[in-house]
Amino acid sequence: MTLVLDETKAPAAQANETCTLENYLALPDHSMDGRIREARERLGAAAVILGHHYQRDEVVRFADFTGDSYKLAKTAAATSAKYIVFCGVHFMAESADILAREGQQVILPDLNAGCSMADMAEIGQVEDCWDVLTRLHLSDEFVPVTYINSTAAIKAFCGERGGLVCTSSSARAALQWGFARGKRILFLPDQHLGRNTGHAMGIPLEEMAVWDPWAIQGGQTKERLAASRMLLWKGHCAVHQRFLPIHVDQVRAKYPDIRVIVHPECRYEVCQKADALGSTEQLIALVEQAPEGSMFAIGTEIHLVNRLARRFAAEGKKIITLDDTGCLCTTMYRISPQHLAWALENLVEGRVVNRVQVKAEVKHWARVALDRMIETGSRQ
Ligand code: 13P
Ligand code: SF4
Repeated sequence: MTLVLDETKAPAAQANETCTLENYLALPDHSMDGRIREARERLGAAAVILGHHYQRDEVVRFADFTGDSYKLAKTAAATSAKYIVFCGVHFMAESADILAREGQQVILPDLNAGCSMADMAEIGQVEDCWDVLTRLHLSDEFVPVTYINSTAAIKAFCGERGGLVCTSSSARAALQWGFARGKRILFLPDQHLGRNTGHAMGIPLEEMAVWDPWAIQGGQTKERLAASRMLLWKGHCAVHQRFLPIHVDQVRAKYPDIRVIVHPECRYEVCQKADALGSTEQLIALVEQAPEGSMFAIGTEIHLVNRLARRFAAEGKKIITLDDTGCLCTTMYRISPQHLAWALENLVEGRVVNRVQVKAEVKHWARVALDRMIETGSRQ
């Protein structure tokens, strides 16, 4: 027998066998709007929906709060809602769970929404790196700093060894914090954010080495490691690597007055050519603060760029992507209206689906590292 779903009704209110995610996925995006709204309303103050700026419009418009990773982590830490529904990626939901109070539960509408950069540093590899630094009598001089785009285990690793977490908007503050406590920084897992931030603080590129987790001794000699003030993990964001220096040259040749603003996950050569760098929240602020008639080429995820282009068109601000061959974060995109409706309607029915729960043994030190991030602040 084929089940025919009434799109106007919550599946959870129908027969039990229609409550599976598959039944939601079979329905069109627009049919979720009313259901998300209704479920949201019914949950009231019991739930808060957080949305990262890279989320698609059909999802982010339901967020109670939007922001970059730093703002969302702080919002998650401050909310008293019982359910924190995170429209973002896995490391963001993990961070929210680490910062959550007793009794709060964090939900990621699609558990497959990961981050390929976070996957580039596994805890075993990071421990091996530290063992090598210890064997070479160097680890005492290193403070480990991890970008929030990392697993909870890596955050705990950093917390336990006197280090901290940072986001793209707090990386400079985190490096200052680290250099006040140690001679060198091990920066995980995004080499580009580490390099761009270190360089902006005056550290020469020659004093930065890259640790390749797949090479013997990270692909480095002891002398090179001992001469480095920053050891950058060889990780990257595939979305931001697509932007190349030639794209900056091309947009400038076409539009001489354009301002090029990019996320610091972009490669060094692109960041050097750009007019400004910033986290997603900071990129938005740059556009907001610009006078009417300004034009920007933005090097970051395409959903955010397109949304800004639409939002600011009325003010006469023209916004284009730095590379028009497209640049999508496929994992952020996994959070669909269907997943959101499914998660919310289950909550209405008293069922928690897709809870993200960090193991107790990891939580303590990961929390220490995240608290240090929040105490350090996000000033650049
Ligand atoms: P922001 O903290 O700038 O929002 O960055 C998150 C991210 O994953 C960028 O790729
Ligand atoms: Fe990860 Fe890149 Fe997606 Fe950000 S844009 S979540 S770093 S894969």
